[in-house]
Amino acid sequence: MLVAAKEMLDKAKAGHYAVGHFNINNLEWTKSILAVAQELNSPVILGVSEGAGKYMTGYKTVAAMVKAMVEEMGITVPVALHLDHGSYEGCKKCIEAGFSSIMFDGSHLPIEENIEKTKELVALAHEHGMSIEAEVGSIGGEEDGVIGEGECADPNECKKIADLGVDFLAAGIGNIHGKYPANWKGLNFDVLAKVQEKTGTLPLVLHGGTGIPADMIKKAITLGVSKINVNTECQLAFADATRKYIEAGKDLEGKGFDPRKLLAPGAEAIKNTVREKIELFGSANKA
Ligand code: 13P
Repeated sequence: MLVAAKEMLDKAKAGHYAVGHFNINNLEWTKSILAVAQELNSPVILGVSEGAGKYMTGYKTVAAMVKAMVEEMGITVPVALHLDHGSYEGCKKCIEAGFSSIMFDGSHLPIEENIEKTKELVALAHEHGMSIEAEVGSIGGEEDGVIGEGECADPNECKKIADLGVDFLAAGIGNIHGKYPANWKGLNFDVLAKVQEKTGTLPLVLHGGTGIPADMIKKAITLGVSKINVNTECQLAFADATRKYIEAGKDLEGKGFDPRKLLAPGAEAIKNTVREKIELFGSANKA
């Protein structure tokens, strides 16, 4: 059964650890992430961007696949299926499709419009027993066509959005999607501390988890980050392992071209990445 992400993140905030949000792209991704969460007895959030939802033929397919996999794999740890960077329309579709959590990304809108739409979606999500994430101060970089400048959130605006009853909040603190450039200045902990001061016990979300050094991750958790999003790192690990398999000519040996063999090293690489992140975020044995 899928669960809303509120309870697991409230527990994480109180217990000073973070739950990993790992983006999924297909069956292999989902299977690898679920297997490791179960192995480490950790709650987990499966993130679906609008682009990935479209790729997998739509949110209904995704919800049906994930629900069935949780059952068939005998997964007992809490699993949330969460729309990542959702538009207003995307949020409504995921509510209907049977997701257990949504993110409304109104960070590119004027704050008053972000507030108005977030408020409406908070009511709708809660009516359906789902959790909802909102965003203030856009995340930099590009993810599935969603481009952000990487601005830092205004703590007063965070307070306004938090007061609408959102269950967790993404606040930009200099984080970006994708690989960090060599001249990246690092996370802005002053802004994070101010956001936490204004939002109290509300779990905070750190997007752009790929490539953030371990010490910065740990410090962010001490300052109230309870959900960390990772996408690119799993993609890089998958691509690297698959390239090695093919470059070694293994697809040409025997039945090495069988997709179950061809995709196996990549799936194993995703598992290793997820294992590493869950250990770093401190959510192992917190299911
Ligand atoms: P990365 O791709 O940088 O890991 O970011 C993932 C993310 O924030 C998804 O919302």
